[in-house]
Amino acid sequence: MNITFCCTNTKAEPWLQGLQAALPGAHITVWQPGAPPADFAVVWAPPQQFMDEQAGIQALFNIGAGVDALLALRLPPGAQVVRLDDAGMAVQMAEYVCHAVVRHFREFEAYEADMRAGGWAYRRPRLRSDFSVGVMGLGVLGERVAKALAHFEFPVNGWSRSPKAVEGVRAFHGAAGFDGFLAASRVLVNLLPLTPDTQDIMNRDTLSRLQPGGYVVNVARGAHLVEDDLIALIDAGHLAGATLDVFRTEPLPADHPLRTHPRITTTPHTSARTLREESIAQIARKIAAMQRGEPVAGIVDPRRGY
Ligand code: NAP
Ligand code: GLV
Repeated sequence: MNITFCCTNTKAEPWLQGLQAALPGAHITVWQPGAPPADFAVVWAPPQQFMDEQAGIQALFNIGAGVDALLALRLPPGAQVVRLDDAGMAVQMAEYVCHAVVRHFREFEAYEADMRAGGWAYRRPRLRSDFSVGVMGLGVLGERVAKALAHFEFPVNGWSRSPKAVEGVRAFHGAAGFDGFLAASRVLVNLLPLTPDTQDIMNRDTLSRLQPGGYVVNVARGAHLVEDDLIALIDAGHLAGATLDVFRTEPLPADHPLRTHPRITTTPHTSARTLREESIAQIARKIAAMQRGEPVAGIVDPRRGY
């Protein structure tokens, strides 16, 4: 079995060593133009030339959860796309989102500023029941995030394409459920995949329909959010602020207004990192299962886009 590794911005050596240890019978190499055909590929943002040359690939293992960049390419005919299925990302996403929501709800930023300025002032506790959180996307990551928020006793709404039942979460689905979902939510957390249906989904119209004092946490993809609309709504006082981990242009330009806006917190696409050991173990398990002809989880449906 031949496995090729083609991951932009990723140090190849530790991945090769890990994959080789997990799949001792495999021949694993870093892809280069003109490389011999492989059976499986481990990829992140490969060039189109890779896809064109590796026409016989059986499965492409994406070393991330989101496959939008991969599906934008012309894929080898017959190649299955397999996304990372949690692999240690869900707990990180739960930490990140709960931190952002709790920090906003408890006004920790204002307390920290007061303390730095020599103050010792109490703020009136806010009502948790006034801070309903809406999680868009109830997949591998969104479900974990919604459950974690529910543990903090926030009212939690969830929105997915198909109907879902998640304990502690008021579930909405489909286009018909979107208005009700937005109207019921004050804090909006985005964990949707980027597809033609979800691009620009957070815009002036949809964000205006959040409850007054709305807050946005975007941890999925930058192209889900119309950034100028967000800034305009915050400046107009309709939204209280945002925490953004992803941006339409990454890296975010050094002089971008989102970096310095006083009501926006930014991080450099780091809310749920790919963890090498967990990812290698998952990919190796799936390759072995595929070779035995067994089904594996996390196969992407290219028509759905996720
Ligand atoms: P997933 O398991 O594929 O879940 C996607 C969820 O979105 C599902 O609940 C799906 O509904 C819902 N959905 C898709 N299209 C929809 C639509 N048009 N309307 C309503 N709901 C829709 O994905 P995941 O693993 O949770 O990951 C979500 C995204 O997070 C990834 O695609 C990636 O972009 C992003 N991500 C970001 C980071 C980071 O560091 N910032 C890290 C990892 C992932 P159904 O349940 O009905 O199918
Ligand atoms: C990161 O953004 C991922 O999709 O895993």
